[in-house]
Amino acid sequence: MTTASAPGKIILFGEHAVVSGAMALGGAIDLRASVSVQDRAGCIVVTADDLMLQGFSLDLQSGRLSSPEAAYATRYISAVLREFDAHDVEVRIRSSLPASAGLGSSAAIVVAAVMAVSSHQGCSLTLKEIAALSFRLERQVQDGLASPTDTALATYGGYLKISSEISPLDLPPLELVVGYTGVPHNTKSEVEKVQKLKKRYQDLFDHIFQAIGSISLRAVPLIKDQNGAEIGELMNINHGLLEAIGVSSRELCELVYACRGAGGALGAKITGAGGGGCMIAIPGPAGKGPLMTAIKQAKGRPFVAKTGAEGVRLEREE
Ligand code: PMV
Repeated sequence: MTTASAPGKIILFGEHAVVSGAMALGGAIDLRASVSVQDRAGCIVVTADDLMLQGFSLDLQSGRLSSPEAAYATRYISAVLREFDAHDVEVRIRSSLPASAGLGSSAAIVVAAVMAVSSHQGCSLTLKEIAALSFRLERQVQDGLASPTDTALATYGGYLKISSEISPLDLPPLELVVGYTGVPHNTKSEVEKVQKLKKRYQDLFDHIFQAIGSISLRAVPLIKDQNGAEIGELMNINHGLLEAIGVSSRELCELVYACRGAGGALGAKITGAGGGGCMIAIPGPAGKGPLMTAIKQAKGRPFVAKTGAEGVRLEREE
């Protein structure tokens, strides 16, 4: 059996503004998806039992699917299997990343699958090849809609500066608490909504996006110095600007305010496209415990996530 795992991601600063050319900052997180491949004569079976969804399995020969909610994962896996012309295999997916939450779960699955399937076939791809192929496959499955950020973070890990091009940043880990609203988010519709509003208020949006880009830039030395207090302040300012462009929701705001209030966070903001999905908070002096409790009390699902996590890797053979 060959197993590879890849990290999910969060956007720390700069979402939406990045679509119009401002800088954003993303980090790989220590929540991972893993894909195992083993020989199984006469069939191709994909099984996922830990996708933060109901367990499901799909027999690609018979077409039997035990849980239609998770069918999305099989589309990525079958794209990878087709690419490598892989037959007679069983593929198992395990993931601690919720799907459709903006945490890069599909990119982590594609990247881990590309490494697992290629290694299983005895072919060793470079990280650059894995990132490029995974981006192509994710975009193909998502009908042309994918940014290379998620697959790059899943492949290389660490932090990425995203602007006209994507470049790595050498920064220390940052411990955050992520709150999942449980409401699936739709990146495409949120981006379209923002871009439509921007057309009507071009001058205002130019200023807002410029301010968001400045926040991303200012955050880099603060993360280097692990200056939680000022990173938190920037999160709060960035959140306000995301509210201004219309990507917040009642659920997201309830989690953000619960974190800043009872949770004692130094700062909290939406992460990713918004409309649903997740928010992030930086723990205050009382630590992660009160934040986790505050998120649960506000009906969210909390996770601890450390940014700057390792990229795709082969796990020990079982
Ligand atoms: O929904 P997510 O977490 O993948 O974030 C999307 C970030 C946007 O800036 C809204 C879109 C993009 O492609 O950069």
